[in-house]
Amino acid sequence: MKVADAICDATKRLRAAGVDAPRRDARLLLADAMGVAHPALLDAGSHLSVTESARFVDKLVRREAREPVARIRGSREFWGMEFALSEATLDPRPDTETLVEAALAAFAAAPPRRILDLGTGSGCVLCALLREWPDATGVGVDISEAAVTTARRNALHLGLSARADFVVGDWSDAVGARYDLVVSNPPYVRSSDIPALEPEVAAFDPRLALDGGTDGLDAYRRITPLLSRLLARGGVVAMEVGLGQAAEVGDLYSRHGLECVTLRTDLSGIPRAITSRLERL
Ligand SMILES: C[S@@+](CC[C@H](N)C(=O)[O-])C[C@H]1O[C@@H](n2cnc3c(N)ncnc32)[C@H](O)[C@@H]1O
Repeated sequence: MKVADAICDATKRLRAAGVDAPRRDARLLLADAMGVAHPALLDAGSHLSVTESARFVDKLVRREAREPVARIRGSREFWGMEFALSEATLDPRPDTETLVEAALAAFAAAPPRRILDLGTGSGCVLCALLREWPDATGVGVDISEAAVTTARRNALHLGLSARADFVVGDWSDAVGARYDLVVSNPPYVRSSDIPALEPEVAAFDPRLALDGGTDGLDAYRRITPLLSRLLARGGVVAMEVGLGQAAEVGDLYSRHGLECVTLRTDLSGIPRAITSRLERL
């Protein structure tokens, strides 16, 4: 079969399956099946080999079942770096780059030395920050052992493992050392909202990475009381929040001695990262 025909057929199949951008995804999956670095490099007139056809069909069937392209390809680009994914890791979102930007902005004058990433998942946030601050070290904590394994592999692959430590544990297990920066993108979806999410999210992102309890704020309620013990003097906390959660998380911050909150909006203008500095101990 010709590349152009394969894209056309696949686009029809993906459209029928309710996929949002069927032609884009058909091209991405075909490029992946043919080992072509970018869909723009596909030659419309060339033919697929038998092996390439079989690989393409396999990927197409998975996408028809609404598995995200990044999971089918096995990796996601975040902050200009490739992160391997596993069933235990969230597929990193572009919005989370706002959290990285917020942390960088908070340390515009001088970089932090020690970073703690609570709920590290694929390790994308910690690795992005370590890439930006070559003298910093960091610890990523996650309750999922499988996620920690993936994060460790990602740090190794990106040449950051000498400065990144990953630990399996609960938020509260991080207490014991102090950090200049605590970052977190915790689970913040209301439990009752999860079934109505797009199948790409509801069926493929791990529940542990999504479920923020009845009002979505459970993790914030658990993490904010720990911050006075986790932050060094003058330390900064930066957390991602969901749509409409900034005010309530801001209240939680101030109840635990974190005033002067800064909000950073994502590309859609939604407050996405909430930052504060601990002035006193
Ligand atoms: C929204 S995901 C964020 C993953 C990654 N930091 C990112 O931004 O793509 C939240 C992460 O928190 C972890 N998590 C959930 N409950 C936890 C807990 N009680 N203690 C530590 N980590 C937890 C999940 O396993 C998941 O990896």
